Amino acid sequence: KRVIFSGIQPTGVPQLGNYLGALQNWVKLQDSQRAQDEMYLSIVGLHALTVPQKAAQLRQEKWDMLAAILAIGIHPDKTVVFFQEDMPQHLELAWILACCTSMGKLNRMTTWKGKLAALQSASESGEATITSSEASSLNLGLFSYPVLQAADILLYKATHVPVGEDQVQHLELARDLAETFNRHHATGQRYFAPPAHLITPTKRVLSLRDATQKMSKSSTDINSRILLTDEPEAIRKKLKGAVTDSERRISFDPEARRGVSNLLRICAALDESRDAHGWAELVNERGGGSGMLKSVTGDVVLAKLEGVQKEIKRIKGDKAYLEKVARDGAARARERAERTMREVREMVGF
Ligand code: TYM
Repeated sequence: KRVIFSGIQPTGVPQLGNYLGALQNWVKLQDSQRAQDEMYLSIVGLHALTVPQKAAQLRQEKWDMLAAILAIGIHPDKTVVFFQEDMPQHLELAWILACCTSMGKLNRMTTWKGKLAALQSASESGEATITSSEASSLNLGLFSYPVLQAADILLYKATHVPVGEDQVQHLELARDLAETFNRHHATGQRYFAPPAHLITPTKRVLSLRDATQKMSKSSTDINSRILLTDEPEAIRKKLKGAVTDSERRISFDPEARRGVSNLLRICAALDESRDAHGWAELVNERGGGSGMLKSVTGDVVLAKLEGVQKEIKRIKGDKAYLEKVARDGAARARERAERTMREVREMVGF
């Protein structure tokens, strides 16, 4: 029996990286489930609070994210979809796991290490002194972020966690904590099975503006990403500005031609009738060059997003339906989560 769990932060409309690295794969997994399998998807508001959020915006964005998830094909009859913040059990388990986590391990997590290093190097080079708002960006919540993520997963006793490449280190910690918990509290029995990660072929969609970076919702350059809700003209414009190279002949070579290969990979993931090499061939048949590659990529992206965008608009307008999905999802998730917590409370000695 497979129990699939994954999560996404509610901050902003999903970008193409989220879609290809996670959402599209979720739909495939949902549709290939066997009767005994279970699937849970959580919109993780508690994780979003680790960086400053405006309340009104967050309130809007969590419902928009739910609408987007349903619009791409997640069906509440087949998948339990819920808001993490409706479930206090996540925090309760996170605390218990926090007491199994060494500070050293969390210090090595790349998100934390990266932020810390950036701030330290800025202050050492004398460019800037650390302001209080920067210091509070290094908050306790951000530090313990991966522990809450492990709690999300283990609460449902998930066996498989589909994520993009940037989440692999967090998954390693979740496996680690499953084992530590078992040793400390389950007298070495396998109470929590270490969850496996499922990585999509498009595990790392790159920024359109800098092919050394992943495409991200939080980058300050809005032209670096395509949002699921972008207008066709905006999509064409962003693709026109994508970094590629000036070679006439298009080829798939992810090492030497990162920008070009990123676009080919996007085409192959959105339209599986050809692989990335096949898309390169098609572009060459039409005369080749970056301009043609961008035009073909635009066609593929627009063809795919047109239907998704219509659905997002339609579902967003039906607040009563969204609220019902969230309520039902939380009720089903709660049942599973409470079962785990009853056992966990017993095991730790409460
Ligand atoms: P988040 O919200 O940043 O991203 C959601 C999913 O999208 C994937 N992703 C990408 N994949 C490929 N290329 C990209 N450029 C790209 N950008 C994002 C991410 O890998 C992720 O799968 N911490 C998680 C949320 C979370 C979670 C969990 C996930 C909380 N609890 C439990 C799994 C299980 C996050 O911030 O994802």
